[in-house]
Parts: sequence; C-alpha cells; structure tokens
Amino acid sequence: MCGIVGYVGQKSVASVLLVGLEKLEYRGYDSAGIALVNSNELTVTKAKGRIAHLERALRLKNINGTIGIGHTRWATHGEPSQTNAHPHVNTDGTIAVVHNGIIENYLSLMEELIGKGYVFASETDTEVIPHLVDMYLKEVSSVQEAFRKSIARLEGKYAIAMVTEKEPEKIFFVRNGSPLILAEATDVNGEQELFLASDAPAFIPLAKKVYYLKNGEWGYLNHGLHLFNDKDVRIEPDLQDLKIDVGQVLLGEFEHYMLKEIHEQPDIVQKILTERITEDNKIRFDELELKPEFLAGVGRFIIQASGTSLNAGRIAKLYFENFANVTTDADYSSEFRYRNPVAGGDTVVIGISQSGETADTLAGIYEARSKFLKVLSFVNNVNSTIARESDGIIDLFAGPEIGVASTKAYIAEVLNLLLFSIYLAEIRFMMDESEKIEILNQLKKLPDQMRKVLTHTAKIHELAEKLKEKTSVLFLGRTYNFATALEGALKLKEISYIHAEGYAAGEFKHGPIALISEDVPVIVVAPKGEMRTKMISNLQEVKARKGQVIAVVSENDSELAGLADKVLEIPETPEFISSLLTILPLQLLSYHTALKRGCDVDKPRNLAKSVTVE
Ligand code: F6R
Repeated sequence: MCGIVGYVGQKSVASVLLVGLEKLEYRGYDSAGIALVNSNELTVTKAKGRIAHLERALRLKNINGTIGIGHTRWATHGEPSQTNAHPHVNTDGTIAVVHNGIIENYLSLMEELIGKGYVFASETDTEVIPHLVDMYLKEVSSVQEAFRKSIARLEGKYAIAMVTEKEPEKIFFVRNGSPLILAEATDVNGEQELFLASDAPAFIPLAKKVYYLKNGEWGYLNHGLHLFNDKDVRIEPDLQDLKIDVGQVLLGEFEHYMLKEIHEQPDIVQKILTERITEDNKIRFDELELKPEFLAGVGRFIIQASGTSLNAGRIAKLYFENFANVTTDADYSSEFRYRNPVAGGDTVVIGISQSGETADTLAGIYEARSKFLKVLSFVNNVNSTIARESDGIIDLFAGPEIGVASTKAYIAEVLNLLLFSIYLAEIRFMMDESEKIEILNQLKKLPDQMRKVLTHTAKIHELAEKLKEKTSVLFLGRTYNFATALEGALKLKEISYIHAEGYAAGEFKHGPIALISEDVPVIVVAPKGEMRTKMISNLQEVKARKGQVIAVVSENDSELAGLADKVLEIPETPEFISSLLTILPLQLLSYHTALKRGCDVDKPRNLAKSVTVE
C-alpha cells in the first residue's frame, strides 16, 4: 500500500527520494509527495497520480534540499487527490509528516485540535500528526520531545517520518505496526548516507546495511542513527546485510515484473528443492523453531490467509490431510479473525503471506495468540511483522515479488507447503521412505517441466487475442486444481479487469451453469489423474450448452484435446503436483490478455501489493 522514503546525504535529495518512490511503486498508490528541507526552509510538493507527475511538479519548482522525506499514498481516508496526498503539514507549513497505516483515534484528536483553533486542510487521519507536534512544540523546547509526546497520543498502526524547519537537519521516525527500515551507506567520497523506507527495495542499489525497526522504536536520523525503544532507552541498531540484490528488483530483459516473475518460477522451485531436500533425501526447514516432537502431536491445523496465499492454503489443506492425516481447515483471514473458531490446545494456526504484512492475516495471528494457540507462518519476508509475531516461520525463498499480481510467491507457497506436509507425514509415521523418495523424484523434474510449459507462448497469444474481447470467463477445477481455478480467475480479473470466477467443478450444476453462453468461455483444468473423468463430464456439460472450452490438459491427452475447443498442455505428473504446472499457462494467459487490453499489468487499478489495512 503506501510507501515511505527518507534520505540524509550529499546526493541530490529530490532525485534519491524519487528513485526510492519509484522502487516502491509496485506497492500500489494513487498520489505521491515529497518534503525537502533546505537552508531551514521546508518545501512540500505533491501530485495526484503517477510519480512522473510529482517529478514534473518538482522540476517546475526547481528546488532541492539537504534532507527530505517522500511518500506514495493509497487512499484510505479521503479520495485520491493532491490535498490528501502526503506529506501533511501544520498550519504554518513548518512541520511535514508522511505516514503509513491508520491512526484509529484521529477523530477525537482532531476534535481536540480543532477546539484549540487548528484548521484541517485534508480528509486524512495523518493530518492530526503535524498539528499535534505543533501543539506540543508550544509546551516543550525540542522537536524530539514534541514528537515523543505526539506519538504517545496515537492509537492504531503506523510508520511515520517527519521533518521540521525548527530542527532542519533531522528526520524523525517511529514504527508501530507498519514496517519501517533504516539503512546506512557510504558514498563515493566516503561520506555517510542515511535512509529510511517502508520497504527494502527503496534502498537499492545505494544501501547495503539495514535495520528493521521493531514496534515502539523511534528516533531520528542526522549524523548517525539515533534510536530509542518504547521506554525511551537509547539503543544501538544492529545493522544487517541487505539480502536483496539489484538483479532481483530490476526488470532486465522483461517488459514487466509480472512476466519476469512468471519466468523466474522454475529457478525458484529449483532453489526451494535444493534448500529443503538434503542429499540423502531428508526434508529440512532449518529456520523452523517448532520442534518435530511438537509438530507430530498437533491435532489440527487452521490455515488462514488472503487472496492468492489462501489459494495456496486450499491446496495445502489437501496435502496435510492426504499425506499427514491431520485435520486441516483453510479460511479467509478476514473471516477467521472474527469467527471465534473453536480450537483445542493441540491446534496450530498457519499464516501464509508473501508480504508478511497483510492486516487481516496478522489479525488472524493475534486472534490465535489470544487463544494461546501456536502460530506457524509461511512468509516471503522473514523480517516482516507476521514473521515476528509467529512462533515458527518457513521462508518461501521466492525473492522479492514486485508485480502486484502474485505469481512466483504462489508457486513457492504451494511447494513449501507440500514439502512441509511430507515432513509432517514422516514425523507422524504416515509415509514410508520409498513413497517419500518417489514424490521427491517427481518434484525434482518440476523445474524442467515448468520451463517447457513457459515456452508455449504462441497458443497463449492466440487465446489472449480471443479472451481480450470477453466480459466474463469461468474457471473450473476439482481438488488440487480447484485452487488453480480460483487462482486462474483471480489473476485474470485483477490485471485484465475481465470478470472471472473460479468454481469447484462439482458445484457447477448447482447454479453457475446458468451463465454458460457462446460469449462466456470456460477454462477447464483437467490434467491426468483421478479427477480427469469427472472434469470431462463438466466439459461436456459446457459443450452441450454451446459454451467455448479451453482445457488445461496433460500432454498427449488426445481424448480431451478432441473435446475442447483449445487446449493448453502441461507435462504429465501426479495430480497433487499438477497444480504447480497448471497455473503457469493461466498466469501467462492473464498477462497477455491484460496486455492486449492495454492494462497496466504491474500496477493494476485499485490494487495494492501489500494490504496493510483492513
Ligand atoms: C493476488 C494477490 C493478493 C495477495 C493477498 C495476500 O495476486 O497478490 O490476493 O495474495 O493480498 O497477500 P500476502 O500474501 O502478502 O499476505
């Protein structure tokens, strides 16, 4: 969602901030702004729309600064507009604040401030912060004290950065629930540079050492990092190496991040297999702090996640039940957090999250903890809030995902969950060595099989050309590929804006079949396996009503190829593994359809990469 950057150094501050904001564009935003301090004077520049608009506005002003903060806003309180864009300022424009998250008590703070004569310019919750600091600056002598007093008044989740004319050499910051990272670098002249950002890609390629702030930590940047904990005790930040390399966040030969990330999937699968399977075919999760004795005794897993991550969770439910013989539920985090689940002490709640910051998934974790249940999370960002709030974590190893539509994280989630279910099956004595080795051998074929699927682009282009004219598309699948149907539909709707729904094929007759017409293509996911014959019946039902069928089938399935209007092939593999292949042509189909409709594939309208508010 929103993004924050801040910089203190010798380089052109406006340029560093703009580049940082561009690196955060993928998070989704609808306006952007920058506050620069130069010779004790604060200048705020804001623009609705893309960062290019902000860049133009800055060029017209022809200003720069010695320190500065910037922000990309994804509207929550108040429409996307220049007025509602951050930074927000106090009445005389001497204090500028950028903020991610939500100030839950902003209405009561606003009332108090209005009572003291403060006038609000925007509809945002953020604007209370510069006015609060202004109010406290009338009582205390330093900005540090006024900032501290102000943040003590805030309720909710936030990451905040602030600059002022009163102490123009400092950027103040605080983290409480929303991520914020500090970074340090040395420029070519050996001078220290300091950064802050809500997400690590903003620093690339400048900073190499980072510090992930913990909740309640606050401080300021000027000559060095000045950090305090929530008890106001000074602490030394323990800087770590930034583990993202430039190649991971640059487009390289690809036109879009989504396409790049789709093509990275075979290598990611290879990496996961290498990391997780030892030479003597043991499955290992080195980072997992939950002991095998504990996991062997778990009576029930409740998986809770959102969007694509929940689709991966739906497959995991089948893995856990079929391989490890353990009762497993998979639920939307947004439902789980409010449904007061009945769960015994031997229940473990699993969170799955690419970003590790999804508000509903995090709330689900808090819900589990409030019931004293252990939490295990599968996360792509091991420094995220979800990772920190969990008893055990499993790293997805997908590398930074920039495209808003999740692709490689999904594959990494499904594969890690599959490997974890095999690990569980082993420690619970539900799977013997030979069965395990057979599965692992099948999995080792996956990277090459995936590469093969990704080369079948001619057919995808041809189909995308047809789909781009449609207004509605249905996806059908069963068991492991019911999730593929859901995920295929989610991909298509989010980036091409074509209405798409995924259904469990058995439910088709119970309503959705009424939608069939020549204008509503149906994508039937029917690789070889137990469900294939059932899927053929569904396909026939569509054909009997003159519906157009695109089928995702196993190679050389001439029977199905003869029944469908078009087929997309995947190499033959056991059904439970097939969902790692069947989704690939559907990702490509969504990508090319969206492109042919002129959509902004990496930044689809209204969507944010990480949904940090409810
Ligand atoms: C879809 C998509 C979203 C996310 C969902 C959860 O392509 O990206 O549906 O999967 O917002 O996000 P994470 O996995 O970060 O918790």
